[in-house]
Amino acid sequence: MIDTLQIKVTETSNPRLAETEFKDIPFGKIFTDHMFMADFEDGEWKNLQILPYGPIPMSPAISALHYGQAIFEGMKAYRLPNGDISVFRANKNFERFNISADRIAMPTIPEEIFMQAISALINIDKGWVPTQENYSLYLRPVMFATDSSLGVRASDTYKFVLLATPTGPYYTKALKVKIETKYTRANEGGVGYAKTAGNYARSLYPFAEAQKEGFDQLIWTDSATHTLVEESGAANVMFVLDGKLITAAVSETILNGVTRDTIIALAKDKGITVEERKVTVAEIIEGAKNGKLTEAFAVGTAATVTQIGEIGYEGELYKLSDASTRTVSTSLAKELNDIRNGLAEDRFGWNWIV
Ligand code: PLP
Ligand code: COI
Repeated sequence: MIDTLQIKVTETSNPRLAETEFKDIPFGKIFTDHMFMADFEDGEWKNLQILPYGPIPMSPAISALHYGQAIFEGMKAYRLPNGDISVFRANKNFERFNISADRIAMPTIPEEIFMQAISALINIDKGWVPTQENYSLYLRPVMFATDSSLGVRASDTYKFVLLATPTGPYYTKALKVKIETKYTRANEGGVGYAKTAGNYARSLYPFAEAQKEGFDQLIWTDSATHTLVEESGAANVMFVLDGKLITAAVSETILNGVTRDTIIALAKDKGITVEERKVTVAEIIEGAKNGKLTEAFAVGTAATVTQIGEIGYEGELYKLSDASTRTVSTSLAKELNDIRNGLAEDRFGWNWIV
């Protein structure tokens, strides 16, 4: 545990832990007993504290509510066989958090505050890290603007809050996805690469429309032509086409996913040919028709590796191979899970023991 900062801790008991049933726990609804909080005021981060999880009194005029200055991250903590608790690649989430902050005209946060918030909160709430297979403690840092002022400008004050929530699988079955050709998630010159609240807000209406048509998720395409596959609503997407692992290259309009990066590293390590490039809707649909598209899956922290079972495009539905035949993604998913859970050697140094 990093121990250089003064974090005020008001109390450390876990009154809700004993009564919480982890099995089949809904994603992100039950929080641990504590949260970390810090304030950005007068140009610096201060009031670092861990306090019981609960409401924060705030003015209804705070600018995050009105103008959307809010960013977040998502990462997971795992209990290893020897009892240690490990957070997977938190340094990558830290880097992306500050990339998002910068784009939304927010202050960045020093690495020691971000990392120590995680280790301090987990150490107080360690009983909340699940032991069951496929379960973990999801960590949600969020930063939002707190100036109570209606002028449109970057806020001078912010709050950083870290929440933790025990979680199981986000998706429990292969997804039926729709390739979206009307609405867009992100556009050139926009904020698609930042993990900012507005990106999710703008996706909700198209997502609800797709759900009405029976889809579980959307695959976004580029805003200019709708001919290039970008990513999914809460995950990056990957395909096995002609035996190669292909995925959209990260860009201004695509979130640079930590799971994406991890799966690519594991695939290259296995000698699989990986192509990070423009992926056309046409080649995916063609592959689905002629059988050369053997696998399609979503990769993300919450999603982990989730199979895509069916793809809808322009009114047609393309059924993909049975998930049980998908050797590339299932072997990569197993390796990822084994490393995260301490069942395989952490040869890339991804596990951070807190
Ligand atoms: N793309 C979007 C829009 C997401 O919300 C997420 C989830 O965090 C991802 C991709 C995957 O990123 P990561 O693997 O870092 O969780
Ligand atoms: C994550 O995978 O951490 C995400 O942020 C996805 C989400 C919006 C639930």
